[in-house]
Amino acid sequence: KMTYRIGLLPGDGIGKDVITEARKVVETAASSFGFSVEWREFPYGAEHYLNTGEILPDEALEEMQQCCALLQGAIGDPRVPPGVLERGILLKTRFYFDQYVNLRPALTYPNVPTPLKRGEGIDIVVVRENTEDLYVGLGFLSNEEIEATVDMKRPSYTLKGALSLKVDPSMKFAAQLALATEMGVRRITRYACNLARRRKASEIVLATKSNAVKELYGLWEEIAKEETSKEGISLKLVNVDALCYQLARDPSGYGVILCPNLFGDIVSDLLAGLTGGLGLSPSANIGDGLSMFEPVHGSAPDIAGTGRANPLAAILSASLMLEHLTQVEASEAVKNAVLEYLRAFPRQRHPMELGGEATTSEVGDSVASIIQRM
Ligand code: NAD
Ligand code: IPM
Ligand code: MN
Repeated sequence: KMTYRIGLLPGDGIGKDVITEARKVVETAASSFGFSVEWREFPYGAEHYLNTGEILPDEALEEMQQCCALLQGAIGDPRVPPGVLERGILLKTRFYFDQYVNLRPALTYPNVPTPLKRGEGIDIVVVRENTEDLYVGLGFLSNEEIEATVDMKRPSYTLKGALSLKVDPSMKFAAQLALATEMGVRRITRYACNLARRRKASEIVLATKSNAVKELYGLWEEIAKEETSKEGISLKLVNVDALCYQLARDPSGYGVILCPNLFGDIVSDLLAGLTGGLGLSPSANIGDGLSMFEPVHGSAPDIAGTGRANPLAAILSASLMLEHLTQVEASEAVKNAVLEYLRAFPRQRHPMELGGEATTSEVGDSVASIIQRM
């Protein structure tokens, strides 16, 4: 019997609530499909930080290396200044394991209310570059020496004294460097092309903003053009502002959307809103080493611990994880159980986020019960 060691990071706020349900559903799928899971739980997040001052030690990253995959809830807490935990835990993990693909499928689901008028379905995957752009952590305040090493394990970029910025010393300022490398754009474009092929699509859309941010997104367009033509996939260039407008008006007809890091973050929340809620939007952070699976949403401190959190995004993230572990039947079973739950259970038993009355754990129980009956 196959055993998978899975690293579990419930994190903060509703992260804990939804991960409990994802774990329950994975356990159910494991017993139905004849494999087992050994959970290795990591305590990192606000509570741990406030109690110990520790954010995410290197030994923990090394221990994660022993896992087949990571399943994460959400990181972030109003008692801690923004960025400390998000950068120190979530982004650190993405960069450390060089998880260069952030895959964010957006699907419309049966009986889920959406703001769309036309009633047509959405079946889009955002392929978000996950290791570059404004996220590399090269930020500078007022007259600090501009000299820094980007916090990434592989590939590692060193920027030393390459920039000098002359600003009136009496003026407070901040600067943040965004990075695009040929290698970074090539590998994510190649991934998007392969995904398009698997979906039997011949085109990908690239969201940039080269009309305003010329060098950064100019390089993106140049490399993406080269790479897609090598791969025999056609490339449609759009400005991300116009793309958001079009998606809000009529998202049908879109398939694979390739985005630099920050635009991918924003476009995926827009699509979550258009498909019915953040509580339904899963994601996968994929690299050549350890991969991490987590909902698109955050720790939602406004509803943490109230039973209002929708765990379906975490459950669907676990389905992506099972697919990655090549437990394809179990992965499909989890996804189909979510679909069946939304299709067949009365509205009242749906998550509160979707207009129902079910608590977080009742939603997990419902999905698990469908898997058991399959
Ligand atoms: P958020 O995604 O936590 O919440 C946005 C809104 O959506 C809130 O009203 C929330 O109640 C609602 N919501 C989110 N998930 C839901 C769910 N599963 N069910 C029902 N409602 C849900 O975004 P935010 O409020 O901007 O951020 C809160 C904290 O989370 C911040 O600290 C932020 O940095 C962090 N964050 C972490 C991640 C992550 O760990 N991957 C992602 C986004 C935000
Ligand atoms: C996400 C989140 C993170 C991001 C934050 C918490 C750093 O918004 O996973 O979408 O910007 O990537
Ligand atoms: Mn986000």
